[in-house]
Amino acid sequence: MLITGASTGIDAQTAIELSPDTLIFVHYNRSKSDAQKVAEKVNTSGGKAALVQADLMTEEGCDLLYKKVSEQTDSLDILVNNAGGLIKRAAVDNLQWDSMIEIFFLNTFLTMLLTKLCIPLLKKANNPVIINITSLAIRNGAPTATIYGAAKGAIDSFTRGAARELAPKIRVNAIAPGVIETPFHDKFTSKERLKLYKDNTPLKCFGTSDQIAKTIRFIIENEFMTGETIDVNGGLFMH
Ligand SMILES: NC(=O)c1ccc[n+]([C@@H]2O[C@H](COP(=O)([O-])OP(=O)(O)OC[C@H]3O[C@@H](n4cnc5c(N)ncnc54)[C@H](OP(=O)(O)O)[C@@H]3O)[C@@H](O)[C@H]2O)c1
Repeated sequence: MLITGASTGIDAQTAIELSPDTLIFVHYNRSKSDAQKVAEKVNTSGGKAALVQADLMTEEGCDLLYKKVSEQTDSLDILVNNAGGLIKRAAVDNLQWDSMIEIFFLNTFLTMLLTKLCIPLLKKANNPVIINITSLAIRNGAPTATIYGAAKGAIDSFTRGAARELAPKIRVNAIAPGVIETPFHDKFTSKERLKLYKDNTPLKCFGTSDQIAKTIRFIIENEFMTGETIDVNGGLFMH
């Protein structure tokens, strides 16, 4: 199992939640000590963790991550494309070319590239599955995060296309989290904006990383599900 961005937040918890099941490649970029703590928790709960570092903002970085993983395993049962981030908030009338490129690389191209790179390893596993982490921002418009929403929206569409192309061997699904309490919001969301989200959420709370980890487990275990995006958002967006 390879989990990108498993040093903090949603997928740090996912690695710990799923640890007894499989060898877990805990990927990180800058948060080395956080990633080491995750790996320790995986190992002490009976699992086996391997730390892999790579900056995934370039094609070379994605190639390097794949190289490090393929040197240590012949097959991959699960790929969780989770690494991502907002990079920078900006209104549509104030967009900058460079940040648009960065947002699309971190939230779109790296998921597409890693998916492509890992296909041969995934094909060698039993019941392999890819899980892409998108966002509530794909659903209803997210002012000042419009490019981020568009970048994640591309992955929503990619999920269905890849699900059709890679069936019947590899399943591909996505999760669109609402507001989840992680370091993401320390970096990107003001207290006022967070209060607005909570007030507008029918369940009147934010989500937690372990709720997303449980949704990842559900996708892994449901062998009849592919091409699906699951919304986990406290009712902030309903279909
Ligand atoms: N939290 C939310 O409310 C929320 C809602 C919807 C969707 N999401 C999505 O959920 C995913 C996880 O977010 P989170 O909430 O867990 O946030 P987080 O705690 O900020 O985690 C982001 C992860 O992405 C990694 N990352 C960032 N830039 C990278 C780069 N250049 N190369 C490689 N890895 C990089 C980070 O690694 P290092 O720290 O090691 O550098 C970290 O492990 C993201 O895709 C995010 O867009 C989050």
